[in-house]
Amino acid sequence: MARYEIHGHAIVSDDDCIANADGSMPDALRNEADWRRFQGELDRAVLNVLGRYGHYRFPNVAGRRRLIVSSQADGVEQRADGWWWNPGMASLGEALRKAAPEGGLIAVPGGRRVNDLFLSLGFDAFHLSRKRGVRLPGGVPVFTRAWAMGSAERLLASHGLHPTDPVVLDEAERVSVTVWMR
Ligand SMILES: NC(=O)c1ccc[n+]([C@@H]2O[C@H](COP(=O)([O-])OP(=O)(O)OC[C@H]3O[C@@H](n4cnc5c(N)ncnc54)[C@H](OP(=O)(O)O)[C@@H]3O)[C@@H](O)[C@H]2O)c1
Repeated sequence: MARYEIHGHAIVSDDDCIANADGSMPDALRNEADWRRFQGELDRAVLNVLGRYGHYRFPNVAGRRRLIVSSQADGVEQRADGWWWNPGMASLGEALRKAAPEGGLIAVPGGRRVNDLFLSLGFDAFHLSRKRGVRLPGGVPVFTRAWAMGSAERLLASHGLHPTDPVVLDEAERVSVTVWMR
């Protein structure tokens, strides 16, 4: 039986946001070192799982294998632009068996509702980058319940994940990443 390891990824602001109120990702939240690390992780994975908005916002220029989460998919279906999955109609196991039958590392870049879904299904790890000094009032939180819990870190801890040592990615821009492991 194929084995999978599921890793989430996000870069967040001081107020735990992944995007502006309009759903766009502001330049203020971007960081070159974090972007390079993130792209490397996506390359390492056999499959990238993202929500429909993210799929359209970030065209698949690298040609990676994608699983797009959408209520508009008919269970699990293969389309010209990737595999599509409706979690209301098919299990994660079925989606992975079809889209990545060989097993391996699954990268989940989000966004919010996809992160919520995998938080309940179970991440094996979550790579949480923070860019200090950026606030996005009214923005999209990394998880729906991040604010209710007080922070993304507290929410991850409440789901049985444990932080490893933070790694500074860019001292000048105050960006670091902490990998939370099951
Ligand atoms: N800072 C970061 O690290 C980071 C990471 C990811 C994204 N972003 C930014 O955040 C922006 C917006 O993200 P977002 O969270 O608003 O959108 P998103 O997750 O990219 O897409 C949302 C859509 O995905 C589908 N979906 C998600 N979860 C689902 C579920 N459980 N069941 C069925 N369908 C589901 C739905 O599509 P249907 O409407 O078709 O049902 C939903 O409308 C992105 O465009 C990107 O700019 C930033």
